[in-house]
Amino acid sequence: MQTQEFGLDAKPLARIGLGCMGMSWLYQESHRDDVESIRVIRSAIDSGVTLFDSANIYGNGHNERILGRAVGRRAGQVLVATKAGLVVDDERRRLLHRDARPTAVQNSVRASLKRLDLPVIDLLYLHRVDPEVPLEETWSAMAELVQDGLVRNLGLSEVTREQAERAHAQHPVAAIQSELSLWTRDPLGLIPDRTHPAAWHRSGDNLLDWCAQAGAVFVPFAPLGRGYLTATLPTTFEDSDFRSGNERFTPVARAANEKLLGTIRTIAKTHASSPAQVALAWVLAQGEHVVPIPGTKQLRYLRENLQAADLVLNEDEMRALDGLPAPSGARY
Ligand SMILES: NC(=O)c1ccc[n+]([C@@H]2O[C@H](COP(=O)([O-])OP(=O)(O)OC[C@H]3O[C@@H](n4cnc5c(N)ncnc54)[C@H](OP(=O)(O)O)[C@@H]3O)[C@@H](O)[C@H]2O)c1
Repeated sequence: MQTQEFGLDAKPLARIGLGCMGMSWLYQESHRDDVESIRVIRSAIDSGVTLFDSANIYGNGHNERILGRAVGRRAGQVLVATKAGLVVDDERRRLLHRDARPTAVQNSVRASLKRLDLPVIDLLYLHRVDPEVPLEETWSAMAELVQDGLVRNLGLSEVTREQAERAHAQHPVAAIQSELSLWTRDPLGLIPDRTHPAAWHRSGDNLLDWCAQAGAVFVPFAPLGRGYLTATLPTTFEDSDFRSGNERFTPVARAANEKLLGTIRTIAKTHASSPAQVALAWVLAQGEHVVPIPGTKQLRYLRENLQAADLVLNEDEMRALDGLPAPSGARY
């Protein structure tokens, strides 16, 4: 896979990363298998994937343990990314609260390092800004971790341009991770219009442009629309699956959202590829500094997703995908 220079320590960064969350959290609990997850991560390393995404909260530490075990001595070859700033209150019900106080974040990172069994984290994100703590206080505590050699690069998740600028003025923002896919375009400054179903409404800033100007990487999370854009989801989910309670996945919303899939399927057919690959190719086409992290716990999906790096969409196809209607249902 093609690589590029990344952040402050310039480790090579492949065009597509791996989201590890589903191996421990949110989706199809009954399908989880640690041995298989470790195989998926190791196979991704063999295939040239460099960015591996985790967080302290995914499975309340389980995900970092799996990632650490899988990466092992090959840590030098990859970029291990994890997050701080959220705390699990109830793992089964996935109740969380924000805590980005300086000491809480620094303690969280020390615990992550132990679980990952690594001396240093390549990329540490602030998972969510804590409204109770000035961003500057959190960010300066994170910068101290860089000075102490425990973290290499800092990133933000789901922030505004103004927040990114404030942080960047203090210490470089190496990456921003936010949800971006054919049906979630907030980082492009587009959200579904509440008063006109299926229409997009211009709101907020284009964070991809900001990243390009600031020399930061933009990391789209849920680039496959939490599986929806692959056109392979089952009609029902286990009760513990995040999607069973999410507005975009109700039967009514899914019936309305079906119209997004027609165009994606047609383009996929033209290229003898899959809807998942088309969804990823559209995300990749948003810029060379854009590195999606599709999530999977299955080898066959990993292989399919990585092939999307070679799928080039023509202008007509991009126009058709840009013009897809906004989805029904809120993303959270
Ligand atoms: N910063 C944040 O707040 C935040 C929030 C959410 C996620 N994330 C990160 O972003 C990563 C990716 O997001 P995500 O996992 O939520 O959503 P996603 O990548 O959009 O979709 C994952 C879902 O798609 C399925 N899938 C993957 N490849 C497929 C393929 N080729 N064909 C059919 N189905 C396929 C997966 O199934 P299987 O599980 O069966 O493989 C899973 O159900 C996460 O792993 C996590 O690291 C960050």
